[in-house]
Amino acid sequence: MKIRKDFLPLSRPSIGEKEINAVVSCLKSGWITTGPLCKAFEEKFCGLTGASYAISVSSGTAGMHLILLGLGIKRGDEMITPSMTFASTLNMITLCGAKPVFVDIHYDTLNINADLIEGKITNRTKGIVPVHFAGAPVDMDKILKIAKKNNLFVIEDAAHGLGTFYKGVHAGGFGQYAIFSFHPLKNITTGEGGMITHNDNHLESQLRLLRFHGIERDAWKRYGKGGTPEYDIKKAGFKYNLTDIQAALGLAQLSRLEELNNRRRCLADLYMKGLKGVNGLELPGVPVYPHTHAWHLFVIKVLSMDRERFMKKLSEYQIGYGIHFPAGHRLSYIQERYKVKKGELKETERAGSRLVSLPLFPDMEEEDVSYVCEAIREILANG
Ligand SMILES: Cc1ncc(COP(=O)(O)O)c(C=O)c1O
Repeated sequence: MKIRKDFLPLSRPSIGEKEINAVVSCLKSGWITTGPLCKAFEEKFCGLTGASYAISVSSGTAGMHLILLGLGIKRGDEMITPSMTFASTLNMITLCGAKPVFVDIHYDTLNINADLIEGKITNRTKGIVPVHFAGAPVDMDKILKIAKKNNLFVIEDAAHGLGTFYKGVHAGGFGQYAIFSFHPLKNITTGEGGMITHNDNHLESQLRLLRFHGIERDAWKRYGKGGTPEYDIKKAGFKYNLTDIQAALGLAQLSRLEELNNRRRCLADLYMKGLKGVNGLELPGVPVYPHTHAWHLFVIKVLSMDRERFMKKLSEYQIGYGIHFPAGHRLSYIQERYKVKKGELKETERAGSRLVSLPLFPDMEEEDVSYVCEAIREILANG
């Protein structure tokens, strides 16, 4: 086949006139940091997820940090999580002084295997952090049941879960705690950014204090007409707020969520058809329960070829790729610090060495998918 001249990236944000106009209008408004647009963005998230509260933050990672601290997670505590997750979760648990305890995944969907969770609960366990991997929801009914029975918190990692529904409920809408990410790879972006959703009346003000220096009111209320500039700090906090410039972009993106996700779904479907029956690879598995997949990523598993060599070949064909994720328990500091026994996470290991994420983003053309499928057939056929 003829190799294309231009490089096809793994992902590219879909930014149109709507987003550009929204950001320009914010820039001209006289207020560009956390303010009315962040508030509007938060309200949209409550509407989307059905959660009582939404708090905009500077990243999904910051959101995870705030929730863990807000819930009082500390030295000696254990948090159950898959190893097949982004390192940020493991870092935040570790930086709170707690220990991530790994549960294996389903090889096909890469989601946590909820049936294995109870076997990992000890008297130190405080919560479960499942990931809606690639936009496929985890089995929330099972997880919520286990959490209730054992008095555990659930923090949904919904970084991939914008537009993910489990049995009709949007990710982040299960009455627990959740984080979303707006990193440029995600289904909508604010450049960098994130959102917490939750239903916890007691924690709401704590999380907002922790988000912004421990100060009680947002700056726009202090400096706006009729505001008072004095403040007090009763507890130290971080600087994890989102800006109105970012929220302007986020609101414009969110208004296009259905369009963007429909396009992702259509492209994922083309991949499924285009790669069906190709020897030497496995297609992403999808959950058996009723759900809507957000198709944040399209992750195949390479069986018949060394993955390094396969990825090198993709580069030669001008195709971008990713690895989501290197198994967390294999990262150097996690290995040294938490010492996971060999063979304890069999499916994570089996999937982890074979995963490759293919290009998937709304502005991709159908011909791009056909090109990738043809290239993969050729690469695998030639070994
Ligand atoms: C599964 C998962 N969790 C958490 C995060 C962290 O989000 P952020 O980059 O916004 O901090 C990411 C981001 O890549 C992710 O993929």
